[in-house]
Amino acid sequence: MRPKVTVVGAGNVGATVAQRIADKGYADVVLTDVVEGLPQGKALDIMEAGPILGSNAQIVGTNDYADTANSDVVVITAGVARRPGMSRDDLLFTNMDIVGGVTRQIVHHSPNAILIIVSNPLDAMVYHAYEVSGFPKQRVMGMAGILDAARFRTFLALELKVSVRDVRAFVLGGHGDAMVPLVQYTSAAGVPVSQLLNREVLERIVQRTRDGGGEIVNLLKTGSAYYAPSAAVVEMVEAILFDQKRVLSCAAYLEGEYGIHGIFMGVPTKLGAGGVEQVIQLKLTTEEQQALDRSAAAVRELVDAMKKRPARA
Ligand code: NAI
Ligand code: 2OP
Repeated sequence: MRPKVTVVGAGNVGATVAQRIADKGYADVVLTDVVEGLPQGKALDIMEAGPILGSNAQIVGTNDYADTANSDVVVITAGVARRPGMSRDDLLFTNMDIVGGVTRQIVHHSPNAILIIVSNPLDAMVYHAYEVSGFPKQRVMGMAGILDAARFRTFLALELKVSVRDVRAFVLGGHGDAMVPLVQYTSAAGVPVSQLLNREVLERIVQRTRDGGGEIVNLLKTGSAYYAPSAAVVEMVEAILFDQKRVLSCAAYLEGEYGIHGIFMGVPTKLGAGGVEQVIQLKLTTEEQQALDRSAAAVRELVDAMKKRPARA
């Protein structure tokens, strides 16, 4: 029997996550949304690619949470996406209500699932899903660090004219303007990038990484990125379903790691069948720790704003 993955939100990110998993064929997928017909139409279209791609996965589109029952992994992409001129934080209360309502339904039907949150503002939404779900911290996480690191790796590979496969990088902190690309742990074929690129070039690439989401929003004008985000989600899903023990950056609940308490934020983690099996502690420079503290303060501000406003959904 194939594992079962539910994707909530059949928009750009959700449908592309469903498609990527279905195309590989290792899990059955339930795609759900509030809009009637949308998940059904997209699921059928994705499943009809199966004969061409050789995938026997079952893809169900639905507006009924009963169909999501007993999912192994649930990816929550429901919510609204940014438009030009909006920050991720502008989505806070709208998406808080949506993510809260979705999480209640998921917990009811899949009490043992592992939750991967994607909706923005990411770190605040993961916190909210964690609070609403009552799940242990290991089973609730957010996707952002893999995406941010992928952007960093892309820009570095372009600059160095090497394969993206040989560029390794970590981006920590909240998924926002204050994210922290870690230059000291970034390398090409094991050589630190600080030995390959001068400071000015590195600073330009770090800033482009921080602005990576906004760069796509400004080009698309009607929404935000989804090809790279969906690929990042699928990397997490596979690490969990196949118990790969991958070391990947994701938003995890911190209880003193990196000196940060009681919020979710991007850190290197070990992802496996148990979810976030370990938060991996890297030694940071004073400058990096200060940058991480600033990022944590920005996340905490959003969490505090949510705590002051009771959820409606
Ligand atoms: P989208 O607008 O294409 O899709 C969102 C979908 O959610 C829509 O189909 C909508 O009908 C659905 N939805 C709204 N309320 C719902 C509810 N109560 N129950 C079920 N479905 C509901 O947006 P897109 O591009 O797919 O982005 C989704 C979210 O993910 C946004 O908040 C976006 O900012 C965030 N995002 C986060 C990333 C990250 O790195 N963490 C990367 C890319 C997007
Ligand atoms: C991104 O970074 C919108 O958070 C999303 O593309």
